[in-house]
Amino acid sequence: MTTKSLRSMLACAVFLAVPTAALSNDLLEEAKDYFEPIPSVVPSVKNNAVTGDKIELGKMLFFDPRLSSSALISCNTCHNLGMGGDDNLETSIGHGWQKGPRNAPTVLNAVFNIAQFWDGRAEDLKAQAKGPVQAGVEMASSPARVEATLKSMPAYEVAFAKAFPGEDSPISFDNMAKAIEAFEATLITPYSRFDQFLEGNTKVMNEEEQAGLQLFIDTGCASCHAGVNLGGEGYYPFGVVEKPGADVLPAGDKGRFAVTQTADEEYVFRAGPLRNIELTAPYFHSGKVWDLEQAVAIMGTSQLGEDLSDDEIKKITAFLKTLTGEQPRVDYPILPVETSETPKPELMVVK
Ligand code: HEC
Ligand code: HEC
Repeated sequence: MTTKSLRSMLACAVFLAVPTAALSNDLLEEAKDYFEPIPSVVPSVKNNAVTGDKIELGKMLFFDPRLSSSALISCNTCHNLGMGGDDNLETSIGHGWQKGPRNAPTVLNAVFNIAQFWDGRAEDLKAQAKGPVQAGVEMASSPARVEATLKSMPAYEVAFAKAFPGEDSPISFDNMAKAIEAFEATLITPYSRFDQFLEGNTKVMNEEEQAGLQLFIDTGCASCHAGVNLGGEGYYPFGVVEKPGADVLPAGDKGRFAVTQTADEEYVFRAGPLRNIELTAPYFHSGKVWDLEQAVAIMGTSQLGEDLSDDEIKKITAFLKTLTGEQPRVDYPILPVETSETPKPELMVVK
């Protein structure tokens, strides 16, 4: 090899090391076909006007452990807003230290998912919020108990009347769910570096991260993980090409099959939304994978039939970390004081 050709090769390599504005712009145009930035304003939700009073009430309810029969477990116990909106446990622990069957997904940006839960069984956030309150392994309460609890505290009477003006009996299980949904609509994380990139400021993502984004599109991740949340939009078998081992995909949980009873929906799950993914280990509905690079490698083999190289995995993971947005700042609410009418905490005995 001549010195000259070596030099031109080196020049070429140096040239490639920095993403040029032209290359970045091509990538940006391609990315815009798949992804959308998180809006900077609170999104609206279906059949539920998001008002300031409803948000404030929903915040109190989200943090109030008295929605559980033990008076110990709140939504925030498992969806800790200081830890990415989840509990960082393999699968959640609820009433009486019972271990639930699935990993808790984050509540952050959940408002952008087409449906809630790993199997999409709740249509929206207000339908979702009624589930955990009643689930025996979570908060183990009932609509009647929740209503009695809320009605026993004058400050809740006032807050519900403000949030649901003109209604005859504003305190109801339905309205609890609507207020929580309104609060959850505020739990969005805009201004991630990826969002800034999508808005045209391509310099905020370095070479490795841009290469990762290119791979995310080219290898096919983006065919299932697209839209605002890079996921949360559609259902696919976990193991389109190759079923992961039982250590990652336990046989007992058949996903959407339990919802639709359709045989070809066995082991079908919602493509996980990937916003803030670096904050929400462990991964998958089983919570069996703690390392994001390992999760990416598993997706390569199970969903794409591709053994991604270490270098590719590193780049894709670097890209995924640009999806961490500005976390919502939440002032811890002061909760209404109990009265003699408030139902007493029940012992956490496993029934
Ligand atoms: C004991 C832990 C626990 C408690 C308490 C709890 N959750 Fe969850 N949450 C989970 C788990 C686990 C899932 C996933 C269950 C599934 O997919 O079947 C989940 C799912 C969700 C989802 C769906 C997110 C998505 O991306 O699909 C939302 C939203 C949510 N919970 C909000 C709430 C609210 C609001 C409360 C309080 C009323 C609450 N949770 C209480 C553990 C909990
Ligand atoms: C055919 C659709 C499909 C493709 C292609 C795909 N995924 Fe997934 N992805 C899913 C599904 C479904 C899940 C949920 C799996 C489960 O049940 O836990 C998931 C989950 C994930 C998770 C875990 C999310 C969480 O909160 O635990 C990550 C990370 C992920 N995918 C990244 C990728 C990457 C990176 C690629 C490309 C290498 C990719 N995916 C390709 C469908 C897909």
